[in-house]
Amino acid sequence: MSTLVIGEGTLGELGSRMRELGLAGRAFVISDERVYPLYGEEVRQSLQQAGFDSAAYQLPCGEASKSLSTTWVLYDWLVEQRAERRDTVIALGGGVVGDIAGFVAATFLRGMPFVQVPTTILAQIDSAIGGKVGVDHPRGKNLIGAFYPACLILSDTKVLRTLPRREIAAGWAEAIKCAMILDAELLDLLEANAKGLCDLTSPLLSTIIERCARHKVDVVAQDERETGLRMILNYGHTIGHALEAALDYQVLLHGEAVSIGMAGAAAISVAVGLLEPAAAERQNQILESFGLPIRLPSIDRPLSVETVLERMSRDKKTRGARNQWILLDRIGHARIESNVPVELVERILRSLLAPSPAADH
Ligand SMILES: NC(=O)c1ccc[n+]([C@@H]2O[C@H](COP(=O)([O-])OP(=O)(O)OC[C@H]3O[C@@H](n4cnc5c(N)ncnc54)[C@H](O)[C@@H]3O)[C@@H](O)[C@H]2O)c1
Repeated sequence: MSTLVIGEGTLGELGSRMRELGLAGRAFVISDERVYPLYGEEVRQSLQQAGFDSAAYQLPCGEASKSLSTTWVLYDWLVEQRAERRDTVIALGGGVVGDIAGFVAATFLRGMPFVQVPTTILAQIDSAIGGKVGVDHPRGKNLIGAFYPACLILSDTKVLRTLPRREIAAGWAEAIKCAMILDAELLDLLEANAKGLCDLTSPLLSTIIERCARHKVDVVAQDERETGLRMILNYGHTIGHALEAALDYQVLLHGEAVSIGMAGAAAISVAVGLLEPAAAERQNQILESFGLPIRLPSIDRPLSVETVLERMSRDKKTRGARNQWILLDRIGHARIESNVPVELVERILRSLLAPSPAADH
């Protein structure tokens, strides 16, 4: 069971929290070239004050670092550092750093204690929680990995202030997803506080991050290996993943792709008679108020419905020939459906990919 610490200014508590959990030995901080210069010093000071010797490695930023070849570089570093099994691996960064550092922690010396210090909204409410760690294969994202939960997840909402605006919006997409599938009251809060959450001035910032994180903890506790309930966390992801992949991960951030995917999944929910149209419209308005797309923005490369469908057919959640769809029957309640007619999916995709009316001018 992971210990979750969330709040403004928690970074300085890292070392003492690790001690409280009985961690000893040295600390190996894995970060990236943007995050480490911003927060590395504070992290290492906190470790030092708690009596931990530490060393740090900075990866190049971005998804390209989430590869087996980078894993090898990190193994080399740990070997050179003479890391031992009782030492701790600390991930300081967004989901990319968390996923690869966790995979290294899971596999080096058959497993070392692992701590997550997530620094993006997406990582604080989603990727750092639940123990999925791994790297990409050249032919597909997240194909190599393990379930290896961190013993401590320490989120400081202060660090979000240095995130680029686009990353902030993309992170909120996962919070809106969480509200749509699990928590209607959370959706009210997101709707009423959109501006303050987008510019990170809302006094509810930590409360909302914590509420989303706790939902993820609850769902994962009920279905650690994603055989049932955990799949609802993939709301918006069937189309979202396919869009990201079809555009070679170059055009859309994950949260932006999920936002378009949620618009698609809500439209499907309405079309099969599960969801009131007004609920889908409300979702889309909230996504837009966070600066998120609900259809593909105009891009300088062609993307056909057939290409997206082909990517969807490779989706991990495909059972037999069919995609598993996470649909809504009301705001705050999701269900898993596999009988969605392909013609309907095609129709919805066509509308998501059609040039927006504004782009015609
Ligand atoms: N393990 C899971 O359950 C899970 C769930 C969802 C997504 N993911 C993975 O997460 C990854 C995406 O994570 P992400 O969206 O956090 O992206 P990311 O880790 O690439 O971070 C985005 C960018 O923001 C920078 N950054 C991070 N924190 C910052 C800060 N506080 N200030 C300034 N810049 C900062 C990073 O250097 C990077 O350039 C993907 O690889 C995805 O597959 C994993």
